Amino acid sequence: MQMLALYSIKGGVGKTASAINLAAQASLAGQRVLIWDLDPQAATTFYLRNKPRIRGGGVEKLVKGKALLEKTIRETDMAGLDLLPASLESREMDMLLEGRKASRLRKVLKPVSDDYDLIVLDCPPGLTTLSKQVFSSVDALLVPVVPTTLSMRTLNQLQQYLDGENIATPLWPFLTLVDRRRKLHQESMADFRKAWPTHLSANIPYASVVEQMGSHQAPLTQFAPRTAAAVAYRNLWEEISKRL
Ligand SMILES: Nc1ncnc2c1ncn2[C@@H]1O[C@H](COP(=O)(O)OP(=O)(O)O)[C@@H](O)[C@H]1O
Ligand SMILES: [Mg+2]
Repeated sequence: MQMLALYSIKGGVGKTASAINLAAQASLAGQRVLIWDLDPQAATTFYLRNKPRIRGGGVEKLVKGKALLEKTIRETDMAGLDLLPASLESREMDMLLEGRKASRLRKVLKPVSDDYDLIVLDCPPGLTTLSKQVFSSVDALLVPVVPTTLSMRTLNQLQQYLDGENIATPLWPFLTLVDRRRKLHQESMADFRKAWPTHLSANIPYASVVEQMGSHQAPLTQFAPRTAAAVAYRNLWEEISKRL
């Protein structure tokens, strides 16, 4: 079982859109995939036509390893893609995770680790106790970066934080919401490639079809598989899978 997180200190950079589309691409490629919606805003849960709720004891039991994960996990409309939905109580998650061992999230998933090839975490923004757990649990951090100076500054801050905490989890940043017509984007993209040798080279374009995921409540593969954005996510997934 491998674990990846879509993570950024910033909100609104495409974490959720990327988590869903990459998970969908992985399942299309034959992987058994679980996506865990760690964001109390529950966007991933909504996009995958579910409601935020943790059955049988709430997030507290889940984190303590007692809840039957099988009961909480739901199937989605896509074969090979399951969902661990957000819990409205996951605001409390930080509190519960405080002081627990760093790789706790991986432990929580142990009972189902044989059922999945890949687990994708969709994270809330910010640097919290939960994000520290994420950093220590995953094989790599996939960081969506909008090609602007500010967004890249945040990426540097993240790297500095990880270095300071001696966390060796690799950062695999990639560009998203890319508008090639904008000069600023073009310049920032060149800087990005130079500054981040570990970047993933597939860029996700700014595309209204991604915004339409909300009304379709489905990944791009389900309603717009031949669009540039869907192809970009497929290329991105292929690149990621080669590194795993
Ligand atoms: N490639 C894209 N093109 C156009 N809109 C996008 C793209 N990726 C994300 N969006 C939109 O931007 C907003 C934020 O994206 P989201 O994935 O929710 O970001 P995050 O999870 O980082 O907060 C959403 O409204 C989403 O539909
Ligand atoms: Mg999100």
